Amino acid sequence: MAGKRVAVLVSGGGTNLQALIDAQGRGDLGAGELTLVLSSSSDAYALTRARNSGIPTRVIERKGKKRETFTRLVLETLREYETDLVVFAGFMVILSPEFFAEFENRAINVHPALIPSFCGEGFYGLHVHEQVLQYGVKLTGATVHFANEVTDGGPIILQKAIDVRDDDTPETLQRRVMETCEWQLLPKAVRLFCDGKLRVEGRHVYIMEEHE
Ligand code: GAR
Repeated sequence: MAGKRVAVLVSGGGTNLQALIDAQGRGDLGAGELTLVLSSSSDAYALTRARNSGIPTRVIERKGKKRETFTRLVLETLREYETDLVVFAGFMVILSPEFFAEFENRAINVHPALIPSFCGEGFYGLHVHEQVLQYGVKLTGATVHFANEVTDGGPIILQKAIDVRDDDTPETLQRRVMETCEWQLLPKAVRLFCDGKLRVEGRHVYIMEEHE
C-alpha cells in the first residue's frame, strides 16, 4: 500500500504527538508516515519533540492574523508537504470552513472527553477536565473523530471511557485520560486511516477488518 503523508498540527506540549512518534518508531502507524509538524506557536514544546525525531517543522503564528489568513497559510503549507492526513493533536486554533472543504474526512482530532459531552468552543485542555469534575459525571474519556466545520462535531472514529474518581483533580484526570485513552486511541485511528480501514457514511465511521 502507498504511504500516507501525515501532518500533525500542534500548539503546546505535544504528548499526543509523542505518542504518534513512538508508534511510528514501533512500526505501529501502518502505511502512515509523519512528514510535518506544524505549530501555531513558536514556543510549543511539541516542536522540540519533532526536531528530536527528525520530523520537519513549520511555525505559523496564530497571533496577529485573521482566522482566514491563518487558515490559508496552513493550507498552503499542507499542500507543499503533499499531505494526505492532518492530525490535530492539541491544536488550539479553530480554522475557517475552507480548511474542512479541502480536508473532508482527511483530518482527525483528539478531544479529551466523551463527545458529545464537554466539547465545542471553549472546551479545550484542562478546562474540559475542570468542567467534568464540576458536573459530577462518573465517566469520562477521550474521542478521536474526523474534524469538520462544527467544533468537535465530526463523525466519531474511536472512543474510550474511564471512571472519574472522587479524589481526582483536573490535573490527575487529564493525565489519566491522556495516558489510558488519548495516547492509545490517536495512533490507532491514524493507523486505521492510513491502512484504508475506515469507511465513512454520513455520521458513521465503520472500521473494516481490524486485527488486534
Ligand atoms: C490533549 O488532552 C488534547 O486532547 C487536548 O489538549 C491536550 C493537548 O496535549 N485537545 C483539546 O482540548 C482540543 N479541543 P498535548 O499537547 O500534550 O498533546
